Amino acid sequence: MYALSWATLAAFTLGARAGTILWNGSFNNYASASDFDKWSWANQTGSYQWYIHGSAPTSEYLAVSSSYKNPADTAESRGIKMTIDGTSNWNGQTMERTELIPQTTANLGTGNLFYHFSVMHSGTNAPDSTMEHQVCFFESHFTELKYGVGSTPTNLVWMVTGNQKWSTPFTAGTWFNFAYDINFSAGTVGLWASTGSSPLTKVVQNVAASTSTNSADWHLGVLRLITNQKAEDWYFSGVYVESGPITTAIGNGSTGGGSTTTTTTTSAPTTNPPTTSTTTTAGPTQSQWGQCGGNGWTGPTTCASPFTCVAVSAPYYYQCQ
Ligand SMILES: *[C@@H]1O[C@H](CO)[C@@H](O)[C@H](O)[C@H]1NC(C)=O
Ligand SMILES: *[C@@H]1O[C@H](CO)[C@@H](O)[C@H](O)[C@H]1NC(C)=O
Ligand SMILES: *[C@@H]1O[C@H](CO)[C@@H](O)[C@H](O)[C@H]1NC(C)=O
Ligand SMILES: *[C@@H]1O[C@H](CO)[C@@H](O)[C@H](O)[C@H]1NC(C)=O
Repeated sequence: MYALSWATLAAFTLGARAGTILWNGSFNNYASASDFDKWSWANQTGSYQWYIHGSAPTSEYLAVSSSYKNPADTAESRGIKMTIDGTSNWNGQTMERTELIPQTTANLGTGNLFYHFSVMHSGTNAPDSTMEHQVCFFESHFTELKYGVGSTPTNLVWMVTGNQKWSTPFTAGTWFNFAYDINFSAGTVGLWASTGSSPLTKVVQNVAASTSTNSADWHLGVLRLITNQKAEDWYFSGVYVESGPITTAIGNGSTGGGSTTTTTTTSAPTTNPPTTSTTTTAGPTQSQWGQCGGNGWTGPTTCASPFTCVAVSAPYYYQCQ
């Protein structure tokens, strides 16, 4: 018993996770693309909402595999390949989208939070730099990555409310690790970045931004502005949101040498049970970009002024815009 405690302590210490995980977007619990289809507006199960995509079967847009993650991320058993192609029109929009949204009851918009993810393209079905791409963005676009924009469209560019702050060549085969450093109290956002197994470092200090989220409007994935028949594959892993202080290590912090037994003793609040319609008393009105209706929706159905409730995907999803 004591031996176990010491092993646990050692693993925990070596893991050196600094903050508290508020939402864990690991794909460890997603064995195949069909697991994403278990989520629906009526049964909001799992870690991700999956509704922003084209009309083809999910397997055309999502695939999970151990070879789709940042190999330095030893805490993760899988990453995801997200594909965008000529069928990826969603909701009649003249743009193409393949995006996952956090499914959680946690408040992902309070205090100082870090939105972690790693992104890569392999060179096969590479992103087309002649088209604008929006990557890992909030609805209000106060922080996001873009590709195919600016004077060097082959760069991955970090933007705050449409203004470029930082960029890097989006080299094929390199994993780019990021954390959006968002202080929702102060209304500021900064950027941490690294490649491969290197720990994150702060590359842009926080700047003022209109930081807000309803905890269900951060989009993991890609929106392509011009419709095009050519498929693109984007890879993501290491997705989670934590409260500060930031965890800078990639994965569990292992540098490849040690092999301590991983013991899951600390609370792992990952998947949410199917929501038993807890009548959310989230106030009488919904904020901009928040849900305001749809099958199974029990939250507010009126929007804060001056927004109106729009049938984005009737009868499933209505949003304040
Ligand atoms: C909701 O989804 C979960 C996970 O797939 C499943 O076990 C459960 O039966 C579903 N509930 C309903 C009411 O369909
Ligand atoms: C997320 O949960 C998975 C298990 O579902 C676990 O293996 C992984 O370490 C967790 N990630 C973080 C960052 O806590
Ligand atoms: C976030 O902003 C608040 C309000 O300005 C400030 O008190 C706090 O120290 C900031 N947090 C961090 C980690 O900088
Ligand atoms: C990190 O995870 C890998 C794979 O699960 C494991 O082999 C290694 O021992 C872990 N390292 C630590 C410090 O937990």
